[in-house]
Amino acid sequence: MTRVLLIGNGAREHAIAAALRRSGVEIVARMKMLNPGIASLSSEVSIGRLSDVDDFPDLSKIDFAVVGPEQPLSEAVVDALEKHEIPCVGPLQAAARIETSKVFARELLSQAAPEANPDYVIIRDRDDIGPAIRQVGLKNVVVKPDGLTGGKGVKIFGEHLDTEGAVRDYAQSLLIKEGVLLIEEKLVGIEFTVQTFVDGERVVPMPLVRDYKRAYDEDRGPNTGSMGSYSQEDHHLSYLDRRDVESALRTMTRAIRMLRERHGVEYRGILYGQFIKTSNGVKVLEFNARFGDPEAMNVLALLETPADSLFWSLLYGNVMTPEFRRLATVCVYVVPEGYPGPDVARDARIVVPSTNDAQIYYASVYEQDGAVYTTGSRAVAVLAMGHSVPEARETAYRVVRGVRGRVRFRTDIGKDVPGSGEADGC
Ligand code: AMP
Ligand code: GLY
Repeated sequence: MTRVLLIGNGAREHAIAAALRRSGVEIVARMKMLNPGIASLSSEVSIGRLSDVDDFPDLSKIDFAVVGPEQPLSEAVVDALEKHEIPCVGPLQAAARIETSKVFARELLSQAAPEANPDYVIIRDRDDIGPAIRQVGLKNVVVKPDGLTGGKGVKIFGEHLDTEGAVRDYAQSLLIKEGVLLIEEKLVGIEFTVQTFVDGERVVPMPLVRDYKRAYDEDRGPNTGSMGSYSQEDHHLSYLDRRDVESALRTMTRAIRMLRERHGVEYRGILYGQFIKTSNGVKVLEFNARFGDPEAMNVLALLETPADSLFWSLLYGNVMTPEFRRLATVCVYVVPEGYPGPDVARDARIVVPSTNDAQIYYASVYEQDGAVYTTGSRAVAVLAMGHSVPEARETAYRVVRGVRGRVRFRTDIGKDVPGSGEADGC
C-alpha cells in the first residue's frame, strides 16, 4: 500500500488527509501539535518540528510526501526530503520564495506579467519611505512585510493606518525586523482565489474560491489567516467572467516559466494565487506555495479523482486534469473570542457537535484528557456542501452555531451570493 508522509497539523492538512484516505493510502503524519482529526486518519503519527527531517519516522518506507504549511517549505523541508529520494508535493525552498518573499514575488511578476502588479516600491532604507509614500499617494498606501506573517502583516491606509506617521512607524518597524518591505498601491475590487496543481510546466486549476480574510463581518477589522470561504456548484464565481480567470491562469503560468528560465528552479506542487478584479484588470495580491486554508477544504471535499493518482501524476511531471463534484461549498471558521488580538481566549474548552451534515476540520487546537482546547489561533473549520451556496451556507451555519465554548465566527460568509442571506438568520 502507498505510504504518504503528510506534514502539518492544521485544518488544511486535515482536509488533505481526508482526501488521501479516500484514495486508500496509508498516512504517516508529522505534526507540531497533535491534531485529533488527522491522527484518527493516520496509521502513524510523530510530533516535533515540521522541517526536522532527521527526526522524522523511518523515511525508507515513505512513497511520497505532501507538505501542507508554508513554514516548513520556507525551511527547505522539500530540499531535505529529496536528498532522501522522497518526491514531494510542494516546491523546493528556492521556488517557495514566490510565497516566502513578497519582494521576490513582485519582482518575478515584473518580469513575467508586469500588468498583474500594482505600483510598488521596494524599501531597503528608511530614507526611501517618504518618497515611496509620495509616489503611491498616502491615501493609496499598503504596507507589506516581505516574509511570512500568517496573513496578518498587511496594513492599509484608512483601514489599519490612519496617518502618515502611522505608516512611517509601521514601515520602520518592518525595516528593523527584516531589512526590507514593500509599499504598494491599494487595489480596489473583489478578490478571488485560484489554486492550481503544477507539475513543473503545466498549471491545472481547481474550482475557484472566494476567501474572507478580515476578522469581522462586512470585511472590517484586521486581516486574519481567513475566516471562511465559499465555492459555487459550477466551480466558477459569478462576479468573474471567463477572461478574468484566463488572465489569472496566464499570470500563474508565466510566473512558473520565469522561475525556471531566470532562476533555474522548477515549481512542483500547489500554487495558489490570490487575485483582485479591479477596473484596471486582474491583479495579483499574493502567491502561496501551498493549498489555501480554508480554500483547501472547499476543493478537496469535492475531489473525485483519487488523490494518490493525482499527486503521482504531478510528481511524474504530467499532471492529470482532476474531476470535482458539481456542488457548492461553504466553509466557516470558528475562532477563539478575541482572535486575532492579544486577548484571545487560549486554553478554552470547546465542544463540537457530532454531525453528518458537515465536515469538521480541527485547526489550532489540542486534546487533553479527551477534551479539545483552543490555542491562540483559529480553532475549527466547518465545511458544508449543497446544490447551491445558500443551501451549503444554511447547513454550515446550523452546525457552527452548535459549537460550544468561548468562540466566535463571521456571520456573512457566502452572504453576497444571490439567494443567500436572511433565510438562516445570519
Ligand atoms: P496578502 O497577505 O498579501 O494576501 O494580503 C492580505 C490581504 O490584504 C489581501 O487578501 C487583501 O485583502 C489585502 N491586500 C494585500 N495587498 C493589497 C493591495 N495592494 N491593495 C489592497 N488590498 C491588499
Ligand atoms: N486563505 C489564505 C491563505 O491560505 O493564506
